[in-house]
Amino acid sequence: MVIFVEDNKLISPELEDIEEERLERSLRPKTLDEYIGQDKVKENMKVYIEAAKKRGEPLDHVLLYGPPGLGKTTLSNIISNEMNSNIKITSGPAIEKPGDLAALLTNLNEFDVLFIDEIHRLNKSVEEILYPALEDYTLDIIIGKGPSARSIRLDLPKFTLIGATTRVGSLTTPLRDRFGIVERLDLYKPDDLKTIVKRSSRILEIDIDDEAAMEIARRSRGTPRIANRILKRVRDYAAVLGDGNINLKLAKIALNKLEIDELGLDEIDRKMLETIILKYSGGPVGVETLAATIGEEVETIEDVYEPYLMQIGFLSRTPRGRIALEPAYKHIGIEFSK
Ligand code: ADE
Repeated sequence: MVIFVEDNKLISPELEDIEEERLERSLRPKTLDEYIGQDKVKENMKVYIEAAKKRGEPLDHVLLYGPPGLGKTTLSNIISNEMNSNIKITSGPAIEKPGDLAALLTNLNEFDVLFIDEIHRLNKSVEEILYPALEDYTLDIIIGKGPSARSIRLDLPKFTLIGATTRVGSLTTPLRDRFGIVERLDLYKPDDLKTIVKRSSRILEIDIDDEAAMEIARRSRGTPRIANRILKRVRDYAAVLGDGNINLKLAKIALNKLEIDELGLDEIDRKMLETIILKYSGGPVGVETLAATIGEEVETIEDVYEPYLMQIGFLSRTPRGRIALEPAYKHIGIEFSK
């Protein structure tokens, strides 16, 4: 029997295709009560939403930050749902000119949510017209060119901006300061991920036992998007190799075939650690050098790979570069030496 496994993109932040986009949508919780994990953020948002509704005001602007795949878009959809408003979804790089943003803003209705993903990648000229829009719901636009140019001020509906970013440090201070609510999403604990895997399985009508759900949770590097992707792949293995049900044995076989190890590390994680340990004597090595050596983007290393490796105590970021820590040596199977 031949099983074709497509390019192993279980960790990549981008959505692979339309099919995956559809899958994600179908799994997205619609209310804060359905949303699993991130308890602190959830509690805070419940209070802010209820208070805004009581006052009959729009919710203050919200900045959500944290590694990719933790549910920033999902949470934004929930917020707009809980505020009984509509949401418009866009991203920093998609808004090329001030006119693009003006068109978006003037088409909003009172209390609507404008969601800007990757807000750290907003163009400077776009960012500048966003400031007065956020501060007092006005838009200053310039009409005409040269001596006859004049500036007019438009009133905007009272809206809520939700900005999402994986790199809060790249936001300019004036932009960051205009968000009244700033929340960090953390990597999920395995128990919460297990609950998410069970919930997704119910929705997708997949038979999975508790142990198998926990195994997928443990190997999903704290990220629901990865857990859901793995679940889908494991389901394929269960259909082909077994009777469709997912038990621990089958989950382990599938995860091994997907080359996701006991801790959820993939080929690139291992390559990164091996490179630091073998080529750079355990570090410190600068992230640019590391990126060039393994052929990955600096941004991908910093946003996608490092958060989990740091959380499990395998990697340290120091002013002089990256250092592999003792548990990483053990995991890779290389003797640790100072
Ligand atoms: N699917 C993806 N993320 C989720 C979450 N936090 N809660 C419930 N279902 C999810």
